[in-house]
Amino acid sequence: MEYPIIQAPMAGGASTPMLAATVCNAGGIGFLAAGYKTSDEMRSEIEETQRLTDRPFGVNVFVPSKEVVDEAILSAYREKIQKEAESVGVSVGQAIIDDDDWGSKITTLKELSVAIVSFTFGCPESRIIKELQDAGSLVAISVTNLDEARIAVTAGADILCAQGIEAGGHRASFENQTEGDQGLLELVGMIKKELNVPMIAAGGLMDGKDITAVLAAGAVAAQLGTAFLRCPESGASPAHKAALYDPRFTKTAITRAFSGRRARGLVNRFLAEYDKDAPRAYPYVHHMTKQMRKVAGQKEQPELMALWAGQGYRRSRELPASQLMGKLLEEMRSE
Ligand SMILES: Cc1cc2nc3c(=O)[nH]c(=O)nc-3n(C[C@H](O)[C@H](O)[C@H](O)COP(=O)(O)O)c2cc1C
Repeated sequence: MEYPIIQAPMAGGASTPMLAATVCNAGGIGFLAAGYKTSDEMRSEIEETQRLTDRPFGVNVFVPSKEVVDEAILSAYREKIQKEAESVGVSVGQAIIDDDDWGSKITTLKELSVAIVSFTFGCPESRIIKELQDAGSLVAISVTNLDEARIAVTAGADILCAQGIEAGGHRASFENQTEGDQGLLELVGMIKKELNVPMIAAGGLMDGKDITAVLAAGAVAAQLGTAFLRCPESGASPAHKAALYDPRFTKTAITRAFSGRRARGLVNRFLAEYDKDAPRAYPYVHHMTKQMRKVAGQKEQPELMALWAGQGYRRSRELPASQLMGKLLEEMRSE
């Protein structure tokens, strides 16, 4: 990596091979998001990215949930949101749990030996971390507090990705808990003080000044998600991109309403209405609302979409990724 800038993995379509490769070719590191994809889909994205760049890039994988949930609570939530799904012509999906093709993804990643494999929603067992390292990958674990950072280092992680409360998208926490979030600079400082491991900082970083601040706090690189969402290379839907600068959406909040796991997004009608009823039930609720969110996106109905965004979304820029990289570097140099 020439410059300490990482394009965050963004599941749900935003992280395309073109976005990741463009960031790599501009001297940063791009990430693919394997979450919600099959192992075969992940493989073809990796192969496509390899055709677009000969520089190193990363792949992010979700650690499967073991959440046990109460059927009655899920049924009650289903009843509440049924009318919203019907309003776009679909039904609420089956409340299922799956492992997101975990075993097959790990096997494929060992075979393809990408430069960095990062994990979110937990820490895989040391054996898996070691096998990926033996296959030639660096292993990064996303953490949201010091306890998780300690577990990741003990398990053998090469890199930590510290995610502050400001971050867009899902909280990367190991458990689907409510407590333990921290502001990014505080988190980076605490980890730096105790653990001697390279750290990537993520959450609310939008410009060169923000990047300089986390590097000064001890991170080796800054990971930006929301900042890349409006790039033409991003696969975020047009309605999601437009919502980021729509004056209708005035704030972000953390909610379980869309997936059953806490995630930060723009406050729209669905979030505001169902947040209080949303059960702690991932990925069950994700599967329940999936079709509704997809069709709402196609119909450009942002009030029913999961509009993931970090706290800095107002400062997002609509620029080709290579130009955005250029701007970020220019801003860092003028600091
Ligand atoms: C649309 C979207 C999707 C995301 N998907 C993932 C993901 O698949 N895996 C992951 O580790 N983090 C994911 N994140 C979180 C990012 O890795 C990162 O922590 C976050 O974008 C940083 O905050 P920022 O958006 O304010 O830059 C996602 C974030 C967004 C905005």
